[in-house]
Amino acid sequence: MKEMKDSVVVVTGSASGIGLAMAHRFAADGARVVVADLNADAAEAVAAELRAAGSEAIGLGVDVSSWDSTQALADRVTDLWGGIDVLCANAGIYPTSPLPLMSERDWDLVIDVNLKGGFLSVRAVVPGMIARGYGRIVMTASITGPMTAYTGLTHYAAAKAGVMGFVRSAALELAPHGITVNAVLPGTVRTPGLGELSDEFRAQAEAAIPVGRMATGDDIANGARFFAAPETGYITGVGLVIDGGQTLPESFAAIAG
Ligand code: NAI
Repeated sequence: MKEMKDSVVVVTGSASGIGLAMAHRFAADGARVVVADLNADAAEAVAAELRAAGSEAIGLGVDVSSWDSTQALADRVTDLWGGIDVLCANAGIYPTSPLPLMSERDWDLVIDVNLKGGFLSVRAVVPGMIARGYGRIVMTASITGPMTAYTGLTHYAAAKAGVMGFVRSAALELAPHGITVNAVLPGTVRTPGLGELSDEFRAQAEAAIPVGRMATGDDIANGARFFAAPETGYITGVGLVIDGGQTLPESFAAIAG
């Protein structure tokens, strides 16, 4: 695949975890990377590391659940580098809350960041992409919601299933403008967002994944890199499951056998 020399790539939620791996991946491939995160200091620290390694990168604060903040991000990047080629709408949170105890506030927070946040991030960059007749949008969904279920994550599952509906309709609408919209659907990825993992959790998770390990951020970044490439312009409106086969077994017996 060609280098991404001089492409401008914005990755939200890239001070940590999957987004951090995406930022490193795009920087390594020659892109100009915008490390955008709620934690502005951490974003700038990541950008400084990338610059120290010879890449072009800036760190900016953004709250993806805010219209003003996402618009300001897009404006700032456009002023600085002339436009945005690739958006990885990756920022997300996954606090658990049992359904009988879930408050309206719990629900709104998770929907605001994971679903509305994706819309606002896309909404902010799309006018510029349409004006230039080119764009690559990659959203981080999840297997949870579109494909599988997890106790305590009804709000999150609804948001991520919603992301897939958004991806398909946005892809349809933006196709005539040279803009693709796709999603990566990670399985269980070892990131700071998961917190400290008990040995028991790790053992159970790994036993359920045919490849035999949890994903790394790099595994997911490779999928985003594919969708972000100029050559994949004929692929739009799809989700790429990156889960080491986690969603394949129909029962424990299927794995054991
Ligand atoms: P993480 O917690 O390690 O990193 C998420 C980053 O997003 C953090 O730096 C955080 O500051 C930032 N962030 C949170 N709220 C934000 C906001 N309102 N605006 C801007 N930035 C914000 O999490 P991780 O695991 O890397 O998750 C990244 C994405 O991958 C999320 O969308 C998550 O739902 C998704 N995902 C993660 C999986 C996993 O197993 N870790 C599995 C499937 C999907």
